[in-house]
Amino acid sequence: MDKLLIRGGNRLSGTLPISGAKNAALTLIPCALLTEEPMTLRNLPRLADIDGFQHLMGQFGVSVSIQGKRPEDFGRVVTFEAQRLTSNVAPYDLVRKMRASILVLGPMLARAGEATVSMPGGCAIGNRPIDLHLKALEAFGAEIELAQGYVKAIAPDGGLPGGDFDFPVVSVGATENALMAAVLANGTSRLFNAAREPEIVDLCNLLTAMGAEIEGIGTSDLTIHGVKRLNGATYKVMADRIEAGSYACAAAITGGEVRLEGANASEMTATNNALRNIGVEIEEDARGMTVRADGPLKATDLTTAPYPGLATDMQAQLMSLLCKAHGTSVLKETIFENRFMHVPELSRMSADIATEGRTAIVKGPSDLTGAEVMATDLRASMSLIIAALAAEGETTVRRIYHLDRGYERLEEKLQLVGADIERVDD
Ligand code: EPZ
Repeated sequence: MDKLLIRGGNRLSGTLPISGAKNAALTLIPCALLTEEPMTLRNLPRLADIDGFQHLMGQFGVSVSIQGKRPEDFGRVVTFEAQRLTSNVAPYDLVRKMRASILVLGPMLARAGEATVSMPGGCAIGNRPIDLHLKALEAFGAEIELAQGYVKAIAPDGGLPGGDFDFPVVSVGATENALMAAVLANGTSRLFNAAREPEIVDLCNLLTAMGAEIEGIGTSDLTIHGVKRLNGATYKVMADRIEAGSYACAAAITGGEVRLEGANASEMTATNNALRNIGVEIEEDARGMTVRADGPLKATDLTTAPYPGLATDMQAQLMSLLCKAHGTSVLKETIFENRFMHVPELSRMSADIATEGRTAIVKGPSDLTGAEVMATDLRASMSLIIAALAAEGETTVRRIYHLDRGYERLEEKLQLVGADIERVDD
């Protein structure tokens, strides 16, 4: 089991490459099930969750070939070919390790007429139900059976008729499953109050490149005209806006200046506005963005919301930054019920944070001190790294397998900009 040792105090400076987006890749990969032709994804991040999904696709008989790109480069080129499927079941032992496996339900149902996926358990940040995924597929004409911890979706003979579904709650994953099921339906489907995250736009762009007919891309009302078949495509995964926002917080908390090569600022408006309100300077250009924080940081109230609101995936990282801001900041987490797991660990680093339900009150500036801390979930882990970069002394972060799920070669990237960080065996 690895751990990370960080000695705080260095001002970060230099250029850091931003990788392909994990949360886009996890919905683009299962699109390979929708065609017998090869589908190639470029700029795939080398992450545990991506490897896990590649393994899951292999379970269905999909051939997965990784080509090009030397191991030391960032961004992989991977071709998936689902010429003939040998299984339409996603087993428990794979799904329990990676809850995004639920995203094979829609495309497998559309391709094979039937799909069985182990129910993904909850996780540290909440119980993560999938009721909206199932309701949307039922609205398109699927029959849903739940038994022995598995969910089975069955299409009528001749395929899904399609239909309308109005989401009572914005759900990224349910929108993705619904889109991947609707593209091969016999008729037209409409989604209302659908998620609008850039990762959904990336999915719609890939599906369109494969021959799907989707209207309203980027809005919360999507119309999908089912087509008979889809062809293969080659598609470049979008830049990871959460990785970029995370490293922006890291640069800012050290009072440094870092260029985030490949970041797409137009997909990070809410995050960049929050950072600017806190006193961080951000220069945006076509190839990335430069983050600079050489003045005092200001306390700022933040509330997470579905896109284009402030991403819940940025809450923990911004909270660490606000520990160094002058004044009291109020953070409201509206998406998940338990996304303050980083607070007790930050408090052990001398942060002054009180939580009340889904609200956290951060008082600053705190003189953060190094400590032995433990990662609990992906973004909470990153918030500990960010705090450690500005803490007095050494911080040891354990259970960093959480980090390896979402941040490609984290310590290498931070070393590129001068952080004193190393990965050691625990
Ligand atoms: C995606 O999760 C992301 N994961 C999450 O990122 C992200 O935090 C989340 O969207 C919100 O932006 C991936 O894309 C792989 P939701 P998802 O369905 O799809 C409730 C990270 O750190 N809900 O939009 O699971 C749910 O409980 C991860 O990279 C239902 O009630 O999120 C939550 O309260 C963490 N029923 C809210 O909706 C459902 O059927 C939003 O969840 C589905 C969701």
